[in-house]
Amino acid sequence: MRQTHYLTLLLTLLFALSATAQQKRTIRSGELWPDGNGRHINAHGGGIMKYGDTYYWFGEHKDDHTSDALVGVTCYASKDLVNWRNCGVALSVTDEPGHDIERGCILERPKVIYNKVTRKFCMWFHLELKGRGYNAARYGVAVANRPEGPYKFLYSQRANANTWPVEFDEQAKEIADTLVAAHYQDWTPAWTTAIGQGLYIKRDFGRGQMSRDMTLYVDDDGKAYHIFSSEENLTLHIAELTGDYLHHTGRYTRVAPAGHNEAPAIFKHEGTYWMITSGCTGWAPNEARMFSAPSIWGPWTQHPNPCRGPKAEITFGGQSTFILPAEGHIIFMADIWRPRHPSDARYIWLPITFEQGKPVVQWRDEWDL
Ligand code: DGJ
Repeated sequence: MRQTHYLTLLLTLLFALSATAQQKRTIRSGELWPDGNGRHINAHGGGIMKYGDTYYWFGEHKDDHTSDALVGVTCYASKDLVNWRNCGVALSVTDEPGHDIERGCILERPKVIYNKVTRKFCMWFHLELKGRGYNAARYGVAVANRPEGPYKFLYSQRANANTWPVEFDEQAKEIADTLVAAHYQDWTPAWTTAIGQGLYIKRDFGRGQMSRDMTLYVDDDGKAYHIFSSEENLTLHIAELTGDYLHHTGRYTRVAPAGHNEAPAIFKHEGTYWMITSGCTGWAPNEARMFSAPSIWGPWTQHPNPCRGPKAEITFGGQSTFILPAEGHIIFMADIWRPRHPSDARYIWLPITFEQGKPVVQWRDEWDL
């Protein structure tokens, strides 16, 4: 009897040890990243939300052959940020013809934040209507009662229609109001000046501002912000969200007008807001940009590329998607896109360190969280 007892104990121990041995311990950027079922994680352009003691990773499900959304937003869960369990599809595209998130639409860069007051999980994403390329330039919103979903699609639209940025005083509004997009030739100095003065804000005033690459940020005071590429990807907008995190309040500011930034990722460190972005070169990587501000409302100052190491001049082959302060690190996350085989896109996760008070992203082949 006693011997059987010891044998059971030994077998349990061996089983636990072998399970632990199978657990991944380090992050290896650019390599395949298997989930608990051994399949490469399919959650691209994503973001991470912590709820309780669990991290939830939301991202674009990518097909093997197309970047169009054939499935929706996927969700993975982890307690250590290294070993991830596939929780399935958090927000599913639909087969209803003409629906905003009809299968075959473009659904990118989903982010989820938890609202402590309503106890709802709020998902925002970049949406392009099926069959219209990147012309719709909308954001979409969905909500769920549980972190992993299912998320219910609420609406999609352009941003802040009939509203000027907070920094536009009466004179700036009057100037912007006189601008006519057809009078300018792209990329001329006059055009650049006019973009700064709100050429496209004026053009899109009635139908709402364009909203493409995006992230969400919840500040220490619980206020949340939607940060997105607007004005033909020329200017970033930071828009305040309502208390339920499901709408814009109408207060928004612009960052780097005519600077051509995509892929915004933001964090706060010792009272300073830091934002890492990319240039606009489609799926091809380019040099990362970095900005800082003493307040989310600016003023935003540009700094040199924070990346260091091989291929630092093209963000190590990737494009920023999210920055997560967690487990004693500030983790910079990026995607290495594979447009010809989208599901094979890879992830870059690297710790941010500081040099002379400024963030630095140093390449590491492997690191331990
Ligand atoms: C770059 C963006 O950052 C991606 O999310 C995606 O929209 C591609 N462009 C499409 O070319």
